[in-house]
Amino acid sequence: MVSAADTELGLAARVRSLTRADHEAAETTPFVGDLMAGRLDLAAYARLASQHYFIYETLERAAATMRADPVAGDFVGFGLDRLPALGADLHHLRGPRWRSEITPLPATRDYLARLRAVAFVDPPAFVAHHYTRYLGDLSGGQMVKRALREQYGVGAAGTRFYEFPGVAAGAVKRRYRELLDAAPWSADEQARFIDEVKRAFTHNRQVFEDLAAA
Ligand code: HEM
Repeated sequence: MVSAADTELGLAARVRSLTRADHEAAETTPFVGDLMAGRLDLAAYARLASQHYFIYETLERAAATMRADPVAGDFVGFGLDRLPALGADLHHLRGPRWRSEITPLPATRDYLARLRAVAFVDPPAFVAHHYTRYLGDLSGGQMVKRALREQYGVGAAGTRFYEFPGVAAGAVKRRYRELLDAAPWSADEQARFIDEVKRAFTHNRQVFEDLAAA
């Protein structure tokens, strides 16, 4: 049984193992299941992308602040920023007035409040939120892209969010995990990182739940 304080395993293996159930809970929400199975419509996906816009807007502002941190700064340098791609997708999916049409759902507001509270000031918490989103986009996100293309007929325009031009996903994920293992964080900071990843998964799950109810 892996614990947060386990020193045999690196931080990357510990966080993966300790958040497996949280990942599963987010991945198996009805909204995600319906999206992947082609049971929704493109407007539903556009609503998800709209919520992503708010989340990445705040997360990437935090990243700009954290770039100066000697540890968290290393995680910012992979060229993974999603906001321009999301803006282009939303323009394609919703039309030119997309920016004035979108509003954050209550669960997104809670997610943003948490990001504002911790991601600008606490490097382990920032990396936790960064990890949860970008490693997810590089992993399961690629399956979502396939579903959008195959089930909903969306082309390259509309799925830019899942494209990382010039980024070798496998190599980035490997390097990312090496950085996690090498982060010179205290046991306390490592525990804070893992707790915050769990929280980030919960926020993502709650956004899916709000989307299903909308
Ligand atoms: C359609 C739903 C999803 C599917 C099918 C999916 C699938 C996967 C798969 C197969 C991996 C392993 C990739 C590898 O070993 O390289 C993975 C990793 C990951 N996923 Fe998901 N995922 C989904 C949703 C999510 C969501 C909603 C989040 C959080 C926002 C998320 C966050 C992550 C993270 C952080 C990892 C990296 C774990 C690690 O290796 O350290 N995923 N996902």
